[in-house]
Amino acid sequence: MSLYRNILWFIKGMREYTRSGFENASKSFAAKDLDVSMVGRSFMITGANSGIGKATAMTIAKKGGTVHIVCRNKEKAERAREEIVSASGNTMVFVHVLDLSESRKVWEFAEAFKKEHTSLNVLINNAGCMVNQREINSDGLEKNFATNTLGVYILTKCLIPLLEKSRDPRVITVSSGGMLVQKLNPDDLQTERAQFDATMVYAQNKRQQVVMTEFWAKAYPKIHFSVMHPGWADTPAVASAMPQFYQLMRDRLRSAEQSSDTLIWLAMSRVTITFPSGLFFQDRQPVSVHLPLAWTHSPRKEVKAFMRCLETLAISVKHSEGDNI
Ligand SMILES: NC(=O)c1ccc[n+]([C@@H]2O[C@H](COP(=O)([O-])OP(=O)(O)OC[C@H]3O[C@@H](n4cnc5c(N)ncnc54)[C@H](OP(=O)(O)O)[C@@H]3O)[C@@H](O)[C@H]2O)c1
Repeated sequence: MSLYRNILWFIKGMREYTRSGFENASKSFAAKDLDVSMVGRSFMITGANSGIGKATAMTIAKKGGTVHIVCRNKEKAERAREEIVSASGNTMVFVHVLDLSESRKVWEFAEAFKKEHTSLNVLINNAGCMVNQREINSDGLEKNFATNTLGVYILTKCLIPLLEKSRDPRVITVSSGGMLVQKLNPDDLQTERAQFDATMVYAQNKRQQVVMTEFWAKAYPKIHFSVMHPGWADTPAVASAMPQFYQLMRDRLRSAEQSSDTLIWLAMSRVTITFPSGLFFQDRQPVSVHLPLAWTHSPRKEVKAFMRCLETLAISVKHSEGDNI
């Protein structure tokens, strides 16, 4: 089954996820969808010092939005801020330093942000990683899971009350088409039992992001949730985490600007919120979260068990030693 899914996904990817896939899809984009002002709206974008996150922050800043960029490396973040401010002329760009793999720090950051700000219109969970060896964080959690899943869970859950009291609130998570090869596996979240294959761990985390989004869309109807695939983009994450794929595909990869188009559209356009909450988007269209005959559907009780498990982990790291929130 996994070979079947991988082959189907790669064929789909060659057709749709490449630069030419974007060029074909973009023929039907309506330019007026992005003809909007973001003055008076505030955005939080994780991993905005580079790639898709930076391209998104740049466009939103040019449209007048207030942008909170959340990055783990202060120097990289400050450099990105300078570039965005100088290109956009918008000084409302703020740097926050946070390593999303450090689960307790995510709580601390989000609680402090909630106290200091009266509104947040859009949260963009963009930061993502593929750590190729099994590493654990200071809470004893596997780092890909901690960053891609639990970090997104804690940040979003903690900011929900702030989002709910803001106008037209949205949460968008940058997943990956790679998730299509994985069925949710709630039984081995830390990859303790299965052999550690970073590509599959990443794909599982990206499936988990889709499942979380669908769940939250039902649980929090005041907020519009979406999750998306940016296509295959030429960014530092791909070059460093998947060097062979990068070498093979580099001439066909999308630019970061092309890959950020749907993310920007989901964050800014009025059209977006005419779609139901909780969908998975690719090139400004909702698309299926399953490949044909791939057996990746999960029963509701597995989804609930997974969400309960995230809540338990999130609460346990919040109250772990050194707790001051
Ligand atoms: N590029 C693609 O083909 C592709 C395809 C599907 C999905 N995606 C997704 O797109 C998103 C953006 O990635 P990208 O391709 O634009 O790569 P990128 O340019 O390397 O950006 C990734 C960002 O995430 C940040 N990040 C990673 N781990 C972090 C942590 N523990 N705490 C805080 N920030 C962290 C990175 O910070 P540093 O700069 O400090 O490393 C960087 O800012 C990711 O979620 C990725 O999974 C990308």
